[in-house]
Amino acid sequence: MYTQLEQRGKPEPPVNVSTLHKMKDKDEPIACITAYDASYAALVDAAGADLVLVGDSLGMVIQGHDTTVPVTVDDIVYHCRTVARGLRRAFLVADMPFMSYTEPGLALDNSVRLMQEGGAMMVKLEGGDDQVEIVEHLARHDIPVCAHLGLKPQSVHKIGGFKVQGRDPDKAKEMLASAKRLQDAGADIVLLECVPNEAGRLITESLEVPVIGIGAGPDVDGQILVLYDILDITQGRTPKFVKNYQAGCDSPLAALQSYIREVKEGTYPEPEHCFS
Ligand code: KIV
Repeated sequence: MYTQLEQRGKPEPPVNVSTLHKMKDKDEPIACITAYDASYAALVDAAGADLVLVGDSLGMVIQGHDTTVPVTVDDIVYHCRTVARGLRRAFLVADMPFMSYTEPGLALDNSVRLMQEGGAMMVKLEGGDDQVEIVEHLARHDIPVCAHLGLKPQSVHKIGGFKVQGRDPDKAKEMLASAKRLQDAGADIVLLECVPNEAGRLITESLEVPVIGIGAGPDVDGQILVLYDILDITQGRTPKFVKNYQAGCDSPLAALQSYIREVKEGTYPEPEHCFS
């Protein structure tokens, strides 16, 4: 009946929330990658990713939009369901798309869809203090939550572009305070996007929950990159934190293994991938 109990003794049991928390406690870097379909999910899992995110970045890399704003709950459910079929060990997180969590009831209904129909094990939402009530509501219903701080791509039209956040020390302190409130509200993980190394370090040291960074420097508990950036499929200018792992590798699997090895060894990100 409890199939997870059977898997505990196996050499590579599936990753769950407590695995991620233990990894933080043991200073073991958490390697994360996005995925959008079953074939790549299987490859990412085989390469050894601990966490796979069905990101609303699919609006850009799959659907060809300029931003994540057009992505719908139906889109994420569809892609999440396909990714779930490809995974064996990695923990599956799904993005809550733009405007799908403006009210506690709406957030709960949409999280339930991502988990029941999509097979997600956790939902991710963008926001700071404004999302504390939503996170509390989801946590009260035992929905695992990842809170996404720093650059919030769903707010791109409000911010006026994809810009580094938290450079001003007062803004970094505000971000830290929001991260603590979100943790206290029940967030199980925090994701930090495009912040200076110092803000990444400060927030990671101050929180009990794992902090996953993308362009947040080396001193976080884990790293995440968009799959198509790792594999050099993305055309045009890429963000500073992107590293092309396909160069010098003879297969996508080798490129993904190389990324995961560098995250685990702490050799990615290098200074050229970081913000100050
Ligand atoms: O949508 C996404 O892929 C993300 C990552 C950039 C972390 O949120």
